[in-house]
Amino acid sequence: MAQYLTRNALDPAQRELQTALRAGAYLGFKQALSLPPQEVVAEIDASGLRGRGGAGFPTGRKWSFIHAKEGQTVYLLCNADESEPGTFKDHYLIERDPHLVLEGVAIGAYAIGAHRAYIYMRGEYASLAETLAAALREAMAADIIGPNCMNSGYDLRITIQLGAGAYICGEETGLIQSLEGRRAYPRVRPPFPAVHGFLQEPTVVNNVETLACAARIMAEGAEAFKDHGTGRSAGTKLISVSGAVERPGVYEVELGYPLMEFLQGEAGGIRGGRGLKAIIPGGTSVPVLTAEEAAPLTIDYESMQSAGTMLGSGGMIVFGDDTSMPQALLRIAEFYAHESCGECTPCREGTGWMAWVLRRLLAGEGRPGDLGLLLRVGDNIEGRTICGLGDASVQPVRSFIRKFRPEFEALLPEPVQAVAWQSHGHGPRTGRFGPPAEEATRSEAVDGPPTAAL
Ligand SMILES: Cc1cc2nc3c(=O)[nH]c(=O)nc-3n(C[C@H](O)[C@H](O)[C@H](O)COP(=O)(O)O)c2cc1C
Ligand code: SF4
Repeated sequence: MAQYLTRNALDPAQRELQTALRAGAYLGFKQALSLPPQEVVAEIDASGLRGRGGAGFPTGRKWSFIHAKEGQTVYLLCNADESEPGTFKDHYLIERDPHLVLEGVAIGAYAIGAHRAYIYMRGEYASLAETLAAALREAMAADIIGPNCMNSGYDLRITIQLGAGAYICGEETGLIQSLEGRRAYPRVRPPFPAVHGFLQEPTVVNNVETLACAARIMAEGAEAFKDHGTGRSAGTKLISVSGAVERPGVYEVELGYPLMEFLQGEAGGIRGGRGLKAIIPGGTSVPVLTAEEAAPLTIDYESMQSAGTMLGSGGMIVFGDDTSMPQALLRIAEFYAHESCGECTPCREGTGWMAWVLRRLLAGEGRPGDLGLLLRVGDNIEGRTICGLGDASVQPVRSFIRKFRPEFEALLPEPVQAVAWQSHGHGPRTGRFGPPAEEATRSEAVDGPPTAAL
């Protein structure tokens, strides 16, 4: 297990400022304050750090997009919403090393010229917010954060804001809307947050782990960061592993670490000595891997991409060979249907439909065309929505059906003579989007999918 970010995390006293300072806390911030902001951006850029929130966008480049005009206020928003299913690594960092997170926020804010930063934390993390607030109070009392940080002339105010528990508040523009006190309807881009973000001002949104990495990089240098990981996947990654493993939890690994070694070693192997059936490597929004596909992979951006999936948030969900993949997919599809904010039609309607068709399949009420229908609904969502949740909802449906098709086919009924689709009466509530007549085997006798936003 790597020990770059988490080297102090096992000491419960690390939450206290004096212990954290003895372990080197805020040296990175001090170093940053001794440099012009653009040199801090250059150092982060040189490290090759990529965003740890899911998309893997280069952090230095993101910071360099901020060009504030006279009179504009720049904001740094730390994304601690952590709602991606299977992901609980930011929780670990905040709980175990809150000063590292605050230091990263302070460095990010300084680098982009922000004097105001917010940490937006999911509502369910209320107790963590208190841990972080206690650390912030200590750092402010020691004049590390606040007016004239460490006697540098730089002022910074950090506010911790609790969300109310919606997945969409983790999407960066949903987060911005929520922080503004609005309903978290994501915004159409462009304009991007770097131009019109929080309160229409230039804004950077970064994940907790990304900012924690920035703190280490400023303390120890870009080269030391690049000593970890592989060429284009520099550094380490926190992996939160759950599901059918003996030792679920959060582990820090070198990027490039063999996936099977991680599974057998750190994660303790498949629970009960069973076989591996599948892995979702980066939160439910990325395509699933079969055991055969997963076997040769390493934990890094390129390796995952070569297998048609993504490292995502590092939220790894492991399925043993006793898992019903249709049942697992239904759970995932229900999540997206529930969390769709309802702002755009393909996602609002499509996520509900996918869950509904899966539910009827599992209830023994499927129709011969249901698998094709699920894939077509997905095709009609992908690329047609305002934010990434729509696309994310399609990845599991498509990959589960393609890779574990026999399990889904086993749920289909024997073909019977087709009858016309009846969209009135008992059919799906949104009849305009019902399956074509040739695929219907009988008139529908259950309610259609809920239309999330109505
Ligand atoms: C539906 C949805 C939910 C998301 N949830 C989170 C989240 O909980 N935490 C997070 O850091 N990023 C989340 N993201 C990604 C953010 O939009 C954004 O890309 C990220 O915070 C940027 O930080 P990074 O560049 O440091 O990775 C989500 C994206 C989508 C589409
Ligand atoms: S894709 Fe889904 S979650 Fe995103 S804005 Fe559209 S309806 Fe909302």
